[in-house]
Amino acid sequence: MFQREAPAGSLTALELDRRLFCLSSLTAGVAMACGGGGGAAPAPAAPAAVGGPLSTTDTKVLLLATPEGTIRDYRNLGNFFLIRDATGIYAMTAVCTHLGCTVGLPNGSLILCPCHGSQYNLGGGNVVGPATLPLVHFSVAEASPGGVLVVNTALTVPTSTRLT
Ligand code: FES
Repeated sequence: MFQREAPAGSLTALELDRRLFCLSSLTAGVAMACGGGGGAAPAPAAPAAVGGPLSTTDTKVLLLATPEGTIRDYRNLGNFFLIRDATGIYAMTAVCTHLGCTVGLPNGSLILCPCHGSQYNLGGGNVVGPATLPLVHFSVAEASPGGVLVVNTALTVPTSTRLT
């Protein structure tokens, strides 16, 4: 019986099946590595925190001249807020202590996390879970006398610390 030979450089059916199997396995592996596979969607990631001293555009004199409760939003700079309260200025993280989502801009006296509903007061105290820890405060100081405020997101301070 005559058996036709495949032209040089062409693939037999068996070789093709093997290559397709390897390709589909690779595709499945990549999908799993990229988070495919039907699992629950991950929580929205917080913007990457930038550690270390970060220069704001505020000065102590100008911020102390604002009304109590003034909030400066620096989530795009280093994921923190600068807040002026009755006793001075403090810098506080915007990273939720539950799973690290970025909290929303303070609304009245509450700060809400959009991911799972945790709530904090303006001082960062945890009011509603699932988070159980307060928002951390960072060191804040003038770059030079009368200069802009510099927040060091690598240096935490007690929540009672104020720049006056
Ligand atoms: S990450 Fe904020 S409540 Fe879960």
